[in-house]
This record gives sequence, structure tokens and C-alpha cells, in this order.
Amino acid sequence: MALPFKKKTATKTELPEKLPEHVAFIMDGNGRWAKKRGMPRKFGHREGAKTFHDMTRYCRSIGIKNISFYVFSTENWKRPKEEIDAIMNLLWEYLNDCDEYLEQEVRMIFIGDKTRLPEKIQKRMIELEEDSKKYNKMNLILAINYGGRDEIAHAAKLIAQEVKSGNISPDEITEDIISDNLYTKGIPDVDLMIRPSGELRLSNFLIWQCAYAEYYFTDILWPDFSREELNKALVDFSERGRRFGGV
Ligand code: IPE
Ligand code: IPE
Ligand code: MG
Repeated sequence: MALPFKKKTATKTELPEKLPEHVAFIMDGNGRWAKKRGMPRKFGHREGAKTFHDMTRYCRSIGIKNISFYVFSTENWKRPKEEIDAIMNLLWEYLNDCDEYLEQEVRMIFIGDKTRLPEKIQKRMIELEEDSKKYNKMNLILAINYGGRDEIAHAAKLIAQEVKSGNISPDEITEDIISDNLYTKGIPDVDLMIRPSGELRLSNFLIWQCAYAEYYFTDILWPDFSREELNKALVDFSERGRRFGGV
């Protein structure tokens, strides 16, 4: 099955020279998008998946090196079973339709606790990670059953094990060691965090990695998010003064 296409009108000429190394997206507003049209929430998720495909293609074409998407959070299990099932089905469809990314030499990395996901999904995720680990044109990072606090707790367990085995002592634990034990090991911190749908929060996404991120919020709902809107965010980002605590 071919990946769905969206209308694409933005051109690269609207882009600033300096692009972020890592852009993260909180794909929010799918449910409201569907509700506004009198449709069940799952239609919003399907429409949101099209935006996701288009953003991936666009970011690959303009040369962004790392993009992360919040697909399903550790908190999203609180939703009705019907909605969770619809999201998992959509995810399964997507995982079986990734040839285009591999052809484009995109490396796929799944972050989050895989163990709570249906087994066939876990297996496919591991397969895609293996098949794409040789690629370096862009890292496509998908957060599925991901929570920032869960990730930090998981890292703490790994480090505690190292201490227990006598490989390091507690006072040797540094920020770098913590970063290296997160699911995002080896991926640079987030430069630009984009959240559509009017919500002004992180909702537990990449909380460690966003310590010095720039934020871009918009009222647009994720299914309506476009290349033009991303260009706007990139221009906005390029005009900000990032001091990282310096002067
Ligand atoms: C984001 O859209 C998708 C997921 C959380 C899986 P929502 O489903 O949260 O949409 P709203 O926020 O209810 O509109
Ligand atoms: C964040 O959106 C999770 C994803 C986009 C996957 P939510 O809709 O779950 O976040 P809250 O509930 O508004 O904080
Ligand atoms: Mg939401």
C-alpha cells in the first residue's frame, strides 16, 4: 500500500540558513480535529498519520538530521480501549509501510518501553531498527509507549546495576552517563520542540532532552499542520538568541 500523500506547497526558499539539528513534534489535536467534523476520534488519528508522513518526507528533503515524534505516551493507556486499538492498528499499518524511509536511507529508532506493546508490533519495531541502523541521512525517532519520567527511571535502574557490579562508583555518575542511558543515547538534545493544538505543555515528552530546547506553539491541530507552518517555526527558531546560560 502506498503512503498517503498530502498537498505540499511550501518551497525550500522560505527556509532560513541555520536549521536545528533536532526537531521534536508533539502530534496533538487529532481528536479535536475529528470532533469538529462530527467524526469519531480515530479518523483524526488517521488524518494525523498523513501529516506525520509528510513532515518526515519534508524534513528529510530539507536536511534536518534528527526528528522525533510523540506517537503514544505512557499516559495514553488511560484512553478507551477502542481508541487504543485504533491507534495500535494504525501503527501496525504504518510499520508495514516503511519501505520509502529505508529507500531514503532514514534510520528508524523507537524510544519508549516496548514491552507493553503487542508482540507483533515489538518484533516489527526491532526488525526496522536493525534494517535501518546502517543509514545516516536522518534519524527518525518514534516515541511509542514513551514517557520522559519512565525513561529516566529506566536509566536510573541501568546505572544502579553498573554501580552494583562495581563498574562505576556513585560519584562517577555524570550528566553524560545519564544521557547515555536514556532511550535517545547518541542523539543530540532537542533544539526545537513543536506542539500544535493550543496546549502549552510537554506532556512528559523528552523532558531531559528538552532542558535547553526552544519551543514553538501553534493553535493549528496536528492533522492541519503543514510544511508552511514548519517553515514558520524554523524561521522563528533561527531568529532566537540561544545563550545556554552564557551572555
Ligand atoms: C494526539 O491527539 C494523538 C495521541 C495522543 C495518540 P489527541 O488524540 O490527543 O487529540 P486531542 O488532543 O484529543 O484533540
Ligand atoms: C501527548 O498528547 C501525547 C501524544 C501526542 C502522543 P496528549 O493529548 O496525550 O497530552 P495531554 O493529555 O493533553 O497532556
Ligand atoms: Mg491531546
